[in-house]
Amino acid sequence: MSTQEIPEENLPAGQDTAHGAVKVADDPFADPGLPPHKPRIQDIDERAARRSERAVAFMFVLSMLATVGFIASYVIFPVDKIVYIWPFGRVSALNFALGWTLGLALFFIGAGAVHWARTLMSDVEVADERHPMEASPEVKAKVMADFAAGAAESGFGRRKLIRNTMFGALALVPLSGVMLLRDMGPLPEKKLRTTKWARGKQLINMNTHEPLRPEDVAVGSLTFAMPEGMSEHDHDFQVEIAKAALMIVRIQPEDIKDKRELEWSHEGVVAFSKICTHVGCPISLYEQQTHHVLCPCHQSTFDLSDGARVIFGPAGHALPQLRIGVNDKGFLEALGDFDEPVGPAFWERG
Ligand code: FES
Repeated sequence: MSTQEIPEENLPAGQDTAHGAVKVADDPFADPGLPPHKPRIQDIDERAARRSERAVAFMFVLSMLATVGFIASYVIFPVDKIVYIWPFGRVSALNFALGWTLGLALFFIGAGAVHWARTLMSDVEVADERHPMEASPEVKAKVMADFAAGAAESGFGRRKLIRNTMFGALALVPLSGVMLLRDMGPLPEKKLRTTKWARGKQLINMNTHEPLRPEDVAVGSLTFAMPEGMSEHDHDFQVEIAKAALMIVRIQPEDIKDKRELEWSHEGVVAFSKICTHVGCPISLYEQQTHHVLCPCHQSTFDLSDGARVIFGPAGHALPQLRIGVNDKGFLEALGDFDEPVGPAFWERG
């Protein structure tokens, strides 16, 4: 027989402790039973119950307000707004607001549910014996009866304020997920069809950052240009140059086979998009004898003396040409934007 000190109140019924002696339990694992149930203040005082009810509803309302704040944050804060917030340092205002509002919306739903369960739902502990996995019809009937009793005790039907505000909070929280769809990016609208080129914009040499004159473009050379007004320090420079990048060559006018190309050129200086119409690589190889340019990615080859039509490779159509002229200061300028989308051919289908 083993010996063990057991507090008197935990001993099975019928076992006594001798004065100051160690009581030896016959069954040290006997079920001590449940302590007597102590009613809470809300169980005996209806005014306390009402206070708890209002507290739970208040938390659900706070959750709703936080969700509204989440949605408002999307509208109020620009994506690139950075703010200093102690102790976090420099953070994105939008992300900070979204994180806090969504966190608070979820927290107050959880806090409201916990407070409801702790103060208003029944806290009577019930012990149930283990039973076979397959429940008998009597047990099933008992479960259903317990469920119905639990539902009644929770006050779900009776406490309409809690029920309705909880439904409101749960209904609003999914809106946060809908708003996150905005992170898939803004609609492109006409951005893929237009570039920074416009009538009167001078052609700027991308190496020297100086405006180009026709005499700067030598026969046989390949010059890259961007529109006047663009700067490599612009936040959207990479996005815009990916559409506006231009390559300029000089071809003897009598060697230009395409009539429109000749009209859109100036004294043999022609300007074409540098972006390959296959999948958008920048073209960089020029063969001056044949006037062919080669895309290094998949070897699409374009004839710049014949409207930049494709003579080899997977590209689907000719490189867009930019119509150019000379302004009264003698600099090359655009006479408009490209008349078709630059880059991969599938954009033409839109
Ligand atoms: S991207 Fe130019 S050939 Fe494929």
